[in-house]
Amino acid sequence: MKVSIIGGTGFVGSYLVDELLVRGHHPRLLVRPGSEEKVQSRTQCDVITGELSDRHALEECMSGAEAMIYLIGILREFPRRGITFETAQYRGFADSLEAAREAGIARVVLMSANGVERAAVPYQRTKLRAEHLLAESSVDWTVFRPSVIFGDPRGRMEFCTQLKGELVDPPLPATLFFPGLNPLKAGEQPMSPVYVGDVARSFAACLDDPSSFGQVYPLGGPRTLSWKEIVGTIARAAGKPGKLTMPAPAWGVKAVARVMEGFSWFPLTADQVTMLMQGNDCDGSRAFRQFNIEPTSFDTAALGYLEGN
Ligand SMILES: NC(=O)c1ccc[n+]([C@@H]2O[C@H](COP(=O)([O-])OP(=O)(O)OC[C@H]3O[C@@H](n4cnc5c(N)ncnc54)[C@H](OP(=O)(O)O)[C@@H]3O)[C@@H](O)[C@H]2O)c1
Repeated sequence: MKVSIIGGTGFVGSYLVDELLVRGHHPRLLVRPGSEEKVQSRTQCDVITGELSDRHALEECMSGAEAMIYLIGILREFPRRGITFETAQYRGFADSLEAAREAGIARVVLMSANGVERAAVPYQRTKLRAEHLLAESSVDWTVFRPSVIFGDPRGRMEFCTQLKGELVDPPLPATLFFPGLNPLKAGEQPMSPVYVGDVARSFAACLDDPSSFGQVYPLGGPRTLSWKEIVGTIARAAGKPGKLTMPAPAWGVKAVARVMEGFSWFPLTADQVTMLMQGNDCDGSRAFRQFNIEPTSFDTAALGYLEGN
């Protein structure tokens, strides 16, 4: 079937395009001007160039498609450039949903994120509102809520590659955040990293599976590890098994981030610290059982791509 993808030029999108093509589907991507080169397997996809706010481009992207997948998500906003959580994760989705319905598309799949029900920060609140809008619509919908996603970034941003560059490669000890005043609790936050290929397979497999209609699936990998264990696994995979760590108070890091986050070079925002301290563990077994996927474990073998990144 023809599948419209909004936000398909990123890390997850590149794997999703591959997976759709393997299954005989035909991806149609809405692509921002300048991002055309990022489209995976470009010659086998329809590329419609236009901004998310461009109604005509959205309509063209939906034309002839039977399903729409919305992948756009951001980790920080740049309001002066018009990039906000509201526009990227709610308004853009609402416009895409409306365009899909007008084009007669009855199948819509939304990329959300694990933990959005906490609604503690705008990232979570806008994704949760998009989920609610979809659930109230008349289309056959499915929502996926992944934990952190790992896999070869193919030149894009991915959390293990980022942690390697920011925490493991530098000669300083890697910082682990602790809540309150107890450094002994540093790096205890649980996470369930999920392999990007398993995420892409779940999206593609659900498209023509009516039992996934009206379902919200958490997507966590088969192993839940503490943040400290994750950093240790990345360090071993990167050939630095003895990497030292150092505790840092989350409230202090958050205060610094709040001042510095306006600079795009500063590595994280205060809201990202809030979400990190919430933990990010979930159980993906319901989705993987249903879509017949044997999920990849988060271990040094699966992180082989870090050697070249
Ligand atoms: N990666 C993870 O660990 C993770 C975990 C949980 C949930 N998710 C969710 O999964 C989705 C995909 O993540 P990803 O890692 O693939 O992200 P990504 O690599 O950053 O890709 C984001 C996609 O959204 C597009 N985009 C971003 N801002 C936009 C804007 N203002 N207007 C139009 N397009 C915009 C990007 O287009 P350009 O190529 O033009 O920039 C790209 O196609 C997101 O919704 C994210 O919240 C990711």
